[in-house]
Amino acid sequence: MKLLVIGSGGREHALAWKLSRSNGVEQIFVAPGNGGTASTPRCRNVPLQATDLDGLLRFAQEAAVDLTVVGPEAPLVAGIVDRFRAAGLAIFGPSQAAARLEGSKAFAKAFMERHGIPTARARIFQDLAEAVAYVEGMETLPVIKASGLAGGKGVLLPETVQEAVAGLEAMLVHGRFGPAGATVLVEERLQGPELSILALTDGHTVGVMPPVQDHKRLLDGDRGPNTGGMGAFGPSPLATPELLDRVVREILEPTLAGLAAEGAPYVGVLYAGLMWTAQGPKVLEFNCRFGDPEAQVILPLLEDDLVPLLRACIEGSLDRFLPRWSSQAAVTVVMASQGYPGAYETGHPIHGIEDAEALGCRVFHAGTVLQRGRPVTAGGRVLNVTGVGACLEEAAALAYAGVGRIHFPGAVYRRDIARRGHPGAASRPPEPSSR
Ligand code: AMP
Ligand code: GLY
Repeated sequence: MKLLVIGSGGREHALAWKLSRSNGVEQIFVAPGNGGTASTPRCRNVPLQATDLDGLLRFAQEAAVDLTVVGPEAPLVAGIVDRFRAAGLAIFGPSQAAARLEGSKAFAKAFMERHGIPTARARIFQDLAEAVAYVEGMETLPVIKASGLAGGKGVLLPETVQEAVAGLEAMLVHGRFGPAGATVLVEERLQGPELSILALTDGHTVGVMPPVQDHKRLLDGDRGPNTGGMGAFGPSPLATPELLDRVVREILEPTLAGLAAEGAPYVGVLYAGLMWTAQGPKVLEFNCRFGDPEAQVILPLLEDDLVPLLRACIEGSLDRFLPRWSSQAAVTVVMASQGYPGAYETGHPIHGIEDAEALGCRVFHAGTVLQRGRPVTAGGRVLNVTGVGACLEEAAALAYAGVGRIHFPGAVYRRDIARRGHPGAASRPPEPSSR
C-alpha cells in the first residue's frame, strides 16, 4: 500500500510515523515533509507544496497512491478532497463544503446558531462603522475574529475599546489578513478553562480522541505573544467522562447531524476548541483536521493501526471499528527558534535527537531539513519532544529529560507544559456570576 501525507509540520511527522507502523504499508510519500519525515522508515519527501492541488493530484495518480491523508487546513478549505474523490482517489478529510466549519468563522457561527450548538454569541460585520457602534454598545470587551483562515493569528483579545476599534480598522479598512479579514466576528468574551476535543468521524459515528489542552502563548505562565502552540498534553484531567459525554451529545453529534442535513456530510477529524464556562462547554472554534501540536500528543496514545481507522471513516463503517486509546498520558514540548513567532534565524545544526530518543522520547520534527544527512533548523517551531508515561507528571518529566539532551543555538521552549494538568491547577469552570 502506498500513502501520501500532505503537509510539513510536526503533525505530519507524527502522522507519517504512525502510518509507517501500519500493516501493509510499503511507502509513504510526504509532500513536502521535513527533516523528520525524510528519515522515517518507508517515508520519502516529495517537493510539492500543500497548496499545489494540481501537482498533488497528478502525483497521486502517477504514483498510484492508495490513500491520501491531509494534514493542514488550507488544502481542505481549497477543496482537495472533492478533487481527489472526483478522480476516484481515496482521501481522508472533509469536503470543501464541510471544511467551511474552519474556513469561514462566519459560516461556523451561523451554522451553530441554526442548530442550537452552544457557542459564544457573536455578530458578523463587513462595515467598520456598524462594527464599531456594536462594540461600543457591548457590556463586556469583545473578541474580534477574522472570518477566514489567518494561520491562527486572526483572533484579537483587546484590553480596551480603543484597541478593539483599532483591530477592526486593521482588518476591515487596512486589509490585515487580506480577504480573510474582510468579514469579522465580534464575539462576547467567555471565561473558563479551555480544552480541545478531537474526534475521528465517518459523518455519523464519533470516535472521540483523548481530550487535550494546548499552550498557545510563548512564555511560561501563559504570558507573551500567541504562537501556533508551544506544547500540549492529554488526556486533560478537566474532561471528566460526564463532560466528554456532554460534548459529544451537545456539540459533536449535532454538528455532524446538522452538516449532513445541509448536504455536507463531514468525514475526517472534527476538532472542537472549547471553553468550559459556568453554563457548560461552548465552542470557541472548529478545526477540520488534526491539531498541531495536539496530534503529537494524541497519535502516540492510539493503540490501533491508523490506516484501517481512516479507511473506516471514508467508507462510513466507523461504528464497527472504534479507535482504542492507551490509558497512559502524553506531553509534547515544542522547541522553537529564538525570535519566534517573530523573525528568526535558520540553518543551525541540531544535536542530541538520538540521545533524547534513547531515553524513550519521540522527537517529531517541524521546521527542520536535512543537510548532508544531519538535521538543521528551518522554521519557527523546530522540534516537538513527546514523552509518554503512566501519568502527566511522568510524561512531562520524560519529555523535559529529552529536551535537556537536544541542543541548537537559540533554542526556546516553555518550562511549564502540562503544569496546568497537575493537581491544584484550575480544573473547574468559574462559578456563575451575576453581572
Ligand atoms: P480561536 O482561534 O478561535 O480558538 O481563538 C484563539 C484563542 O482566543 C482561544 O484559544 C481563546 O484563548 C481565545 N478566545 C477565542 N474566542 C474567545 C471568546 N469568545 N472568549 C474568550 N476567549 C476567546
Ligand atoms: N494547535 C491549534 C491548532 O492546530 O489549530
